Amino acid sequence: MINSTTAKPLRFNSDGRLKVMHITDTHLEDDNIEASVWLMANACDREKPDAVIITGDNVQNCDDSAKTKGYIDKLMNVFEARKIPVAVTFGNHDSEVGSMSREELMAYYNTYSCSISIDDGDLLSGCGTYNIPVLSSNGEKMKFNLWVFDSNDYDGKGHYGCVLADQVEWYKQKSDELTKANGEKVYSFAFQHMIVADVYDALKKSDKKRFFSYSHMYNKDDYYMFDPCKENFGTLTETPCSGYENYGQFEAMVEKGDVLAIFSGHDHTNAFGVKHKGIDICNSLSTRYNGDAFSSQCGYRILEVNEKTPSTYTSRVVHWYDMITMKDVKAAKAKGDTFGCKTAFDVKWRGTLMKSSHRFGRFWIHKLTGRKVTYKD
Ligand SMILES: [Fe+2]
Repeated sequence: MINSTTAKPLRFNSDGRLKVMHITDTHLEDDNIEASVWLMANACDREKPDAVIITGDNVQNCDDSAKTKGYIDKLMNVFEARKIPVAVTFGNHDSEVGSMSREELMAYYNTYSCSISIDDGDLLSGCGTYNIPVLSSNGEKMKFNLWVFDSNDYDGKGHYGCVLADQVEWYKQKSDELTKANGEKVYSFAFQHMIVADVYDALKKSDKKRFFSYSHMYNKDDYYMFDPCKENFGTLTETPCSGYENYGQFEAMVEKGDVLAIFSGHDHTNAFGVKHKGIDICNSLSTRYNGDAFSSQCGYRILEVNEKTPSTYTSRVVHWYDMITMKDVKAAKAKGDTFGCKTAFDVKWRGTLMKSSHRFGRFWIHKLTGRKVTYKD
């Protein structure tokens, strides 16, 4: 068991930019693995990210470890073949069935040379809490940082988990260490499966159900929606399912002031962000496709940072239904890729219907109530 919490560093590319792809909730299993992997490979070829962060529920852990490893192989081969560094952490489902523990899963991910993930060993709760330094393009200085947290699976009462007190303490100490070593604050992103419970403070509370408002995960009588007075991004489409407990992770980040944004998954159709106390609390889409209209709206998020301006970043969410065009259908057909052609065509037509219905619904809600439910990503 490794007792380290710092991963192999990344570096800003020769243009002084860093492009990170956030993948989450792939839930790989028999009914979605081929199409999900085909779309992820396609996404990597067009985006050419400098790194990929995968934040849990990666594999629908089953009672057969050989099968689980087979799913991981297909996922990791996407990045191994393209030599893209990948950092992994876990969600509530990865080790749920128990055929492989989080530690065993991490050891298996780390058999791939593209993996830069860390098993923090006995040092911290969970498995997969670490930081990834990002060096300047000339390699001389640490210019940015990526925090990866295991937000655990469930608490003792069956509620969703969160980042625990010892992990928060580790973050605070590490943040101070980095500031001291670099002579200045190192700006960063944080990634984890479960959204922080503070997200409810960043939304507007309503005591009755309205369109595009969602009940609190643990208090069903309170509803939440975007607060028009705040800076919002994307669309909130379901209840943010945070952990029940809160050990002060978000407040610690506010205090240290080094985290620009925190990106989670878990809520598969939520692709939104809201600025709260100077930090963007964001959720990214599930990155899978199982052949239905619902999953045509899944996808990934791209983040970009310039080493000259590390206190700012850009973010965009890419839905499968926007990524795929009829050109992709034709290109797959021309290559004799029958499966790719079928997948691309499925995404295109199912996605067109899904996207149209979304647009119609959001347009009319805005028209009838004056309430904006979608903001620019
Ligand atoms: Fe999930």
